[in-house]
Amino acid sequence: MAPTLSILLPLLPLLTPSTAACTRESLLASAQTYIAAQKSGNTSSLPLSPTFKHLHNNKERPLSTSLLSTPRSLSLVRSTADTTSCASYTMWISTSSPAPYVVGTQLRHDNDTSTISVIDTIAATTGDLFFDAKKTLGYVIDEVQGSVDVLCQFDSLGTMPDSHEIRVVDGKVKYVHTITALKIG
Ligand SMILES: *[C@@H]1O[C@H](CO)[C@@H](O)[C@H](O)[C@H]1NC(C)=O
Ligand SMILES: *[C@@H]1O[C@H](CO)[C@@H](O)[C@H](O)[C@H]1NC(C)=O
Repeated sequence: MAPTLSILLPLLPLLTPSTAACTRESLLASAQTYIAAQKSGNTSSLPLSPTFKHLHNNKERPLSTSLLSTPRSLSLVRSTADTTSCASYTMWISTSSPAPYVVGTQLRHDNDTSTISVIDTIAATTGDLFFDAKKTLGYVIDEVQGSVDVLCQFDSLGTMPDSHEIRVVDGKVKYVHTITALKIG
């Protein structure tokens, strides 16, 4: 027993994963903190990185004037995780006051999920739906669910921030969810 242990022990630090590494579980857990903050309208529990940035419809905006600063009841929430780019995508819909919203948010992290480095949100009121995209700003790819979210901008009718979520099952596109914001601001 003793010789075996002396061989294994030096390896233990390598085998112990960082608790906040970019795993599917930690990414989805981080997405849960975002959802909780959105429901409560209180961002104080979000672990923001020192270089944190919040984008709302492709424009930088302080969290204090974000959708997160108002509590909202969410009628639908779905999150996917991308362990390769250490990011998650959450889609939520709120149909109640103060205003109905369809929102796609990417949470981006640096090397691990202990902090959030970017909250990138495309928000639209229901009815503002389009299908085309021009400028691609970022992808979140969930290899388990087979879904891809692309935040982009559809420019031919003016500047319209846009989010497309595409789900691929057995090599076929099964499902496309698009959020396009017609008004910016
Ligand atoms: C937000 O949550 C924190 C911690 O739970 C609490 O101390 C603070 O008062 C809350 N802020 C608002 C505006 O409710
Ligand atoms: C990520 O990890 C690398 C290697 O440990 C380090 O050099 C880099 O500064 C880290 N980046 C951030 C944003 O923490």
